Amino acid sequence: MKKLIVANWKMNPDSFSRAELLVRAVQKTAASSKNAKVVLCLPYPWLTDISHKKHKGLSFGAQNVFWENSGAYTGEVSPAMLKNSGVEYVIIGHSERRKWLGETDEMINKRVKAALKTGLKVILCVGEGIEIRKKGLSAAKKFVKNQLQKDLKNFPSSKLQALSSYLVIAYEPVWAIGTGKADKPEDTVEMAKFIKSLLAAKPYTLNPNVLYGGSVTFRNAGSLLQYKEINGALVGGASIKSKEFIKIIRAAG
Ligand code: PGA
Repeated sequence: MKKLIVANWKMNPDSFSRAELLVRAVQKTAASSKNAKVVLCLPYPWLTDISHKKHKGLSFGAQNVFWENSGAYTGEVSPAMLKNSGVEYVIIGHSERRKWLGETDEMINKRVKAALKTGLKVILCVGEGIEIRKKGLSAAKKFVKNQLQKDLKNFPSSKLQALSSYLVIAYEPVWAIGTGKADKPEDTVEMAKFIKSLLAAKPYTLNPNVLYGGSVTFRNAGSLLQYKEINGALVGGASIKSKEFIKIIRAAG
């Protein structure tokens, strides 16, 4: 199965021409890769201009979405707007939004359900902070379980169940994001197995892909992606350096 290599550009770059350059730089490698499906998650101002045109080998994603499809919600962007602009994926619950924008699990839960209902594929981010990880992997698992239970609350209804293959979980330990200190692949494998078994059981009965995110670089991508339990990577900093990102795509095999 193809590995999912997702670029999270965050609040970069600062002009449309730079965004276009980045897209063009990675497109050829993405289109010729047999082992990677590449998704670029762009900031809103560049996203829909780019996503409404077909780019062979690339899919596009947003970095957030609101939970209503229309109405008086100043400043928000709806799932329908994204879907109608050719956007396929959306990142929800990123730890930077939890930290800086006060996102709660309740809000994330509403976003996940609305996005799936509209037919967007959801990349739901979960992961523990350093003070929890210091207590060990079991404490981290407990924390992640709690986040998933809240973020996926009331998830299975017959309609959503049919869409459940649209759910991707990104395990992103907060202490690994942007720090240059990625998780040990063996620990990520254990966490990925844990997430998969949790979601395979009732009430979820889902079989989601699990990605790893947090200081993924071209140097550590190969050692992470070699494991079948890790279905891909969510890449921040290294995704806006095209040469590095191309090497990460190639590391998928
Ligand atoms: P990073 O970010 O690769 O820069 O650590 C990952 C993320 O925040 O999704």
